[in-house]
Amino acid sequence: MKVTISTARNLVLAAILAGSWPALAGSVPDGSVDLLKQKFTEGSYSKRGADGCMMCHKRDPQLAAIFDSVHGDPNGKNTPMAGLQCEACHGPQGKHKGKNEPMLTFGEDSPLTAEMQNSVCLGCHQKGADAQWHGSLHDLEEVSCVSCHQLHVAKDPILNPANQSEQCLSCHTRQQADIHKRSSHPIKWDQMNCTDCHNPHGGIGPAATEQPTVNDGCYQCHADKRGPMLWNHAPVMEDCTICHTPHGSVNDNLLTSRVPMLCKQCHGDNPHAGNVPGGNSSINTAGQGCLNCHSQIHGSNHPNGAKFQF
Ligand code: HEC
Ligand code: HEC
Ligand code: HEC
Ligand code: HEC
Ligand code: HEC
Ligand code: HEC
Ligand code: HEC
Ligand code: HEC
Ligand code: HEC
Ligand code: HEC
Repeated sequence: MKVTISTARNLVLAAILAGSWPALAGSVPDGSVDLLKQKFTEGSYSKRGADGCMMCHKRDPQLAAIFDSVHGDPNGKNTPMAGLQCEACHGPQGKHKGKNEPMLTFGEDSPLTAEMQNSVCLGCHQKGADAQWHGSLHDLEEVSCVSCHQLHVAKDPILNPANQSEQCLSCHTRQQADIHKRSSHPIKWDQMNCTDCHNPHGGIGPAATEQPTVNDGCYQCHADKRGPMLWNHAPVMEDCTICHTPHGSVNDNLLTSRVPMLCKQCHGDNPHAGNVPGGNSSINTAGQGCLNCHSQIHGSNHPNGAKFQF
């Protein structure tokens, strides 16, 4: 990852100059936006660095945990502690030394918008968070980096796959309900993750997935469903989510509706009428279980598989 410290400040500056900061004025304590703006334009970074901050802030043991993290590495390449230290994220100390002058803060209670908070991180992480972040729905909907990431910890918990789905589900309540339905991908058993299919920083595919089409995403794990077969079933080639929902369903096999209703959506109420020799009524009555006969619903490689029976 390429990191430059100067861009961190420049990005924040750019946000200020773009005029997005003053728009905040109503939602912040009097004058603090002006102060923050001033701090950035003057750029009076403190010379004492982390030591100076910790003299007053050592009472909160949680804060010091950052020294055990990659950000806290004083010898790291372009890490905060190798450069502007605490101020790389919280902005110049200026006349802060207590409550006089606010520092940049992060999280829901911060007077700064998510975009402003994120610009601090993106100053160093344009590659790490992927160029895709810009314009992703998380970006547009003002989700902040720190709604997923923690900084004052030795190891950011979200980087452990075992913690990821839980964090996603704290906001995504519909998926929370879905994964507990009768059939689902094994997310609730922690055998799979939201991030197996989605990139939280945005992706090139539909719904921030990594593959260009829904089907390409499914083929990553269900390669046996990838055609072309000798006999293709058109909707399977088109989009798996015509028949399946990725997160959870009250029907077996993640189906969007139950067979035969699923089939009848496209094949009419009586798919065999006039087609099967004699309008075979035994097929029609048996026909509720379409899959009993059309078992190769994803397509067939059998020479006689045109009707997906073999
Ligand atoms: C890499 C960015 C980064 C660096 C470097 C950093 N912090 Fe933080 N700091 C944060 C974030 C993000 C939070 C919000 C809590 C969290 O996510 O951990 C925070 C929270 C805090 C808070 C609590 C603020 C509040 O909202 O009540 C204090 C105080 C603080 N940091 C002080 C420091 C000090 C002192 C240093 C240097 C030793 C430092 N920080 C270095 C990112 C950083
Ligand atoms: C002279 C003591 C002192 C020094 C030096 C100091 N702080 Fe603070 N800081 C405080 C006090 C007091 C508060 C408010 C107490 C509280 O609410 O936790 C505070 C609050 C903060 C907050 C919470 C947000 C806010 O503005 O209220 C952050 C972040 C912070 N300091 C970061 C820093 C950083 C980074 C440095 C070094 C560049 C630093 N502080 C230096 C005393 C100090
Ligand atoms: C001064 C530059 C700088 C700033 C500002 C910064 N980071 Fe980093 N960050 C780094 C560097 C350098 C690394 C380690 C490089 C690497 O391994 O890719 C890193 C690593 C990380 C990692 C991976 C941690 C790990 O354990 O592997 C995460 C996550 C991260 N940063 C998130 C953030 C977030 C969120 C913010 C904003 C609150 C932020 N960073 C601000 C420079 C920065
Ligand atoms: C919706 C949750 C979420 C948000 C928001 C988010 N991240 Fe991440 N981030 C993750 C997860 C999950 C991982 C681990 C990815 C993995 O394991 O494949 C990660 C990994 C990272 C890493 C380390 C791995 C890498 O890609 O090099 C960095 C750095 C990082 N994020 C920075 C950021 C920054 C900067 C922002 C804000 C612009 C941000 N993230 C916003 C969830 C999030
Ligand atoms: C802080 C709340 C929050 C967290 C945490 C969060 N999201 Fe989101 N996410 C949103 C919001 C808000 C939207 C946009 C509105 C919507 O679709 O619900 C969104 C949208 C999405 C979308 C749709 C993207 C698109 O382009 O259509 C996906 C996929 C997604 N999130 C996945 C994740 C994953 C995976 C995680 C965990 C790594 C996660 N989210 C964590 C708030 C969150
Ligand atoms: C098996 C792959 C897969 C997994 C695992 C997965 N998703 Fe999705 N998700 C998708 C696909 C594909 C879409 C797009 C659906 C469409 O276009 O019809 C999607 C769409 C979304 C959307 C956009 C709204 C919607 O429903 O269309 C959100 C939000 C979302 N997923 C969140 C999550 C969360 C949170 C998790 C973890 C609990 C998760 N996803 C797990 C494949 C997956
Ligand atoms: C990261 C791997 C992965 C991806 C990507 C993936 N799946 Fe799955 N899928 C699984 C696993 C694992 C199972 C559970 C297999 C088992 O229980 O034997 C499964 C099961 C299923 C099932 C059967 C569910 C049941 O109730 O038995 C269907 C249907 C399915 N996936 C469809 C899809 C579709 C559609 C996509 C694309 C949107 C997709 N999968 C993407 C891994 C994946
Ligand atoms: C025309 C509707 C339809 C489409 C489109 C479709 N499926 Fe299915 N799928 C089904 C039906 C019906 C079942 C149940 C089969 C059974 O019970 O024998 C099923 C079962 C599955 C299963 C679990 C049983 C097995 O065969 O492994 C997986 C996995 C699966 N589908 C993946 C996919 C993938 C991946 C795609 C896209 C390439 C897709 N499906 C497209 C109808 C469809
Ligand atoms: C989204 C619409 C759609 C759904 C749902 C659907 N199909 Fe199809 N099916 C098609 C299309 C389109 C064709 C190709 C028709 C053609 O070539 O004339 C087709 C072809 C077939 C054929 C071969 C017909 C022929 O003329 O060669 C059979 C058999 C079949 N489908 C059975 C099913 C069954 C059983 C289900 C339910 C599990 C189902 N289909 C669900 C759209 C659908
Ligand atoms: C008892 C076995 C059986 C059952 C059950 C059955 N089918 Fe068929 N289906 C057939 C046979 C055999 C043919 C092929 C007739 C032929 O080759 O002309 C056929 C042909 C079709 C065709 C292609 C019609 C055409 O124009 O050639 C479609 C579509 C179809 N079935 C859909 C369905 C659907 C939907 C269901 C469930 C509602 C269903 N079938 C249930 C045996 C069955």
